[in-house]
Amino acid sequence: MAAHIAEVRALQVLDSRGKPTLEAEVRLTDGSVGSAQVPSGASTGRHEARELRDGDGGGYAGQGVAAAVASVNGPLASALRGLPAGNQERIDRVMINLDGSADKSRFGANAILGISCGHARAAAASAGLPLWRALAGARQAKIPLPIVNILSGGMHAGRQIEFQDFLAVPHGCTSIAESLEAVAAIHRSMREILARDGRAPSGVADEGGWGPRLDSNEQALEYMVRAIAEAGYDPGNQVSIAIDVAATHFHREGEYHLASEGRSLDAAGLVSLLERWAREFPIVAIEDPLAEDDWNGWRGACRALGSRCALVGDDLLATNPARLERAIESRAANAVLVKMNQIGTLTETLQVVDRALEAGFAAVVSARSGETEDSFLADLAVAAGAGYIKIGSVTRSERLAKYNRLLRIEAGWEKAVPEGLAPLRPLRHDEKRGRVRVNNA
Ligand code: PGA
Ligand code: ZN
Repeated sequence: MAAHIAEVRALQVLDSRGKPTLEAEVRLTDGSVGSAQVPSGASTGRHEARELRDGDGGGYAGQGVAAAVASVNGPLASALRGLPAGNQERIDRVMINLDGSADKSRFGANAILGISCGHARAAAASAGLPLWRALAGARQAKIPLPIVNILSGGMHAGRQIEFQDFLAVPHGCTSIAESLEAVAAIHRSMREILARDGRAPSGVADEGGWGPRLDSNEQALEYMVRAIAEAGYDPGNQVSIAIDVAATHFHREGEYHLASEGRSLDAAGLVSLLERWAREFPIVAIEDPLAEDDWNGWRGACRALGSRCALVGDDLLATNPARLERAIESRAANAVLVKMNQIGTLTETLQVVDRALEAGFAAVVSARSGETEDSFLADLAVAAGAGYIKIGSVTRSERLAKYNRLLRIEAGWEKAVPEGLAPLRPLRHDEKRGRVRVNNA
């Protein structure tokens, strides 16, 4: 007999910034158990599902998640107990309907997502499948190319420079193992170069990359090229650059304020600056080049840069099916960043990846700046066939939990599966020199 949900519970735990988050556990009648921990962003967008925090008077200066834990232990557990396990869509639908709000603010997206992922793990255990295989269903599972944080700015590193992430894209590598060796070497050579220039950082930033004092965003691009070359890789041919402009967070009253460069630009001005940099530096992907509601600016960016770069919507799309649809129709982006807690259920997350790939968008499964040791994203990226994963740098164990899980999956340690399911497609890159394939279909 198929297993049913026997118990659902939650606990307040801590994330990589020492901030409370939620772990949920789902227990089935056949004894299978699955648990999941929920991440949390710093540079969050307006269109994300609501993370429930206790606020004034609550523990951890109001950052506690006791109310979200209570949502799980009370109404959500009551609604789910006794339901058959394994039908992820039904479980997620029950929670969405019971919550009733458009942004999951009643029970909290953190409460709902914890259960959603915990249930997926319990169901996979019950079926005797590795998580990625259970999640994949009929999809073509595929090892993703990692896009790896090397330098941080913006809200993740004390706003030394405005752009939030400078990342290495090791598209010349043919496996996760090779990719990690390349980016670890680049991460190391970056520190050496910064130290030589008297900019040695004393520690790493929120996502494990370096957050040094820099004079400008352009200087960060110059350092990226130097670090890639000094690590022994050919910039543009073996390893290219991605940036997360995170423009929402320096956009005020219609202007983009680049304080470190002493100038403010309108959308067209910022796009032409990015265009110039995309010509001068081997940039293959630009995330959030414009703010979360600047649809016109985004369309302009697509016209100017869309044939050369992946233009990745993070704050713009918020892993939201309706916003993705609008971007597809209006040609406002050509790639989507996928963060489960921006939307709050696994079902809606997979729906976004499926639709993006179908529309010829690239999909980048992404961690948050506040993470946990949960490795769920590794399995999700593989299962969804997303093609790309962005989970931070190669230091800090909340990042390594995911990279190391990808190594296990790639090595075949998680491959004991029944026949009939599609084999894992190895990492393969057919990009022309230095270019990330935008059309992933
Ligand atoms: P966040 O940053 O988790 O702080 O939102 C990650 C990103 O912007 O990609
Ligand atoms: Zn982002």
